Amino acid sequence: MSSAPDIYLGLMSGTSVDAIDAVAINFSATSMPHEQRVIGHQVLSIPERIKSRVIALSSMAEDSLSENLELDYILGHLFADCAEKLIEQANLKRSDIIAIGSHGQTIRHKPPISNSEQPNLSYSQQIADPNILAERTGVKVVADFRRRDIAAGGQAAPLVPTFHAHWFGEFEQRKVAVNLGGFANISVLESDRCTGGFDSGPANVLMDYWCQKNTGSPIDTNGDWAATGKADPKLLDKLLSAPYFELAAPKSTGRELFNADWLESQLSPEISPADVQATLLELTAKSLCDAIKSAAPVCGEIILCGGGVHNEALVARITELAQAEVKDCKNYGLKPDQVEAAAFAWLAKKRLENEPGNSPAVTGAKGYRILGAVYSD
Ligand SMILES: Nc1ncnc2c1ncn2[C@@H]1O[C@H](COP(=O)(O)OP(=O)(O)OP(=O)(O)O)[C@@H](O)[C@H]1O
Ligand SMILES: [Mg+2]
Repeated sequence: MSSAPDIYLGLMSGTSVDAIDAVAINFSATSMPHEQRVIGHQVLSIPERIKSRVIALSSMAEDSLSENLELDYILGHLFADCAEKLIEQANLKRSDIIAIGSHGQTIRHKPPISNSEQPNLSYSQQIADPNILAERTGVKVVADFRRRDIAAGGQAAPLVPTFHAHWFGEFEQRKVAVNLGGFANISVLESDRCTGGFDSGPANVLMDYWCQKNTGSPIDTNGDWAATGKADPKLLDKLLSAPYFELAAPKSTGRELFNADWLESQLSPEISPADVQATLLELTAKSLCDAIKSAAPVCGEIILCGGGVHNEALVARITELAQAEVKDCKNYGLKPDQVEAAAFAWLAKKRLENEPGNSPAVTGAKGYRILGAVYSD
């Protein structure tokens, strides 16, 4: 006998600012195979002119309040467009959707300095006005997921590990789930619990920038261009000497640290653009696999999620460096581009059920906290 549907939508635009992903999940179908729980997925590309404004604002090249407010409004409508398209495509009745969990678009992320004795100024801001989303869809919205964790002394990131544990966790197994988005984050899973995790460093953000600058293409499709180059060991060492990689967890990062200016300041002109791209790919693979080794020296499998899974050269290199079997998340019924949006659908469910969404072992918060603010339908 099937139980009543428990349908949530999740909306996500990550640090790559490539697209908004919207996913509809039926969480009641726990007895069904994972595949059948995903009832729709919609992708809405972010127009190039908006993307460059978001990147300028998030890398602090632009620091204006009106720009922040304008983008909050514009993205609010783009998120609503994406949710509307999903509702239509999946043939959903609005009254059947319990809530939409909307991550929004991060434009600033300044977590507390971990292990610091002193309270230090920290914040994390996501925009894409949830009021617009609630008004246009007529569905309850949960948003602003990160700031309660910051208020409790946490990094507010990554937040997906508790969802990774829920979806990928298996009894008496230790696994690591990895998100290859703009940045890479890992989740250590023991049975269905998350016991650790952090941002390992950049995943695609620097490769995207360098590819756009040198080839005019916003992404290095399949990693084909990187595969024509050779990683430069000196440059790799220099990039890996960034203090972030040595920091102890809890830790999280963003465009405030790893951005175009930082990359340009590390380069010397004798290295060809393709070799730089190959070095950036190696940086992602190496920093990720080092992080996995330190956080989970013994682990049964590594599950890869996020847009970076489409970069064949990157996945091949991670598979060579990793000391465990590497699997694509599609083996668990979620496509790589669905995982983060699904996580925020699940975090909305947690919010409405008054259950915590953070993992203090990951964010370093003082304790478990109920995450997100509710905007009524
Ligand atoms: N076919 C492909 N070949 C190579 N890389 C790809 C391909 N498709 C997507 N990508 C990479 O994936 C990135 C988008 O991934 P994703 O949407 O998971 O990241 P994100 O939006 O930054 O999310 P996050 O919040 O996890 O950082 C693109 O910017 C690109 O670098
Ligand atoms: Mg994305």
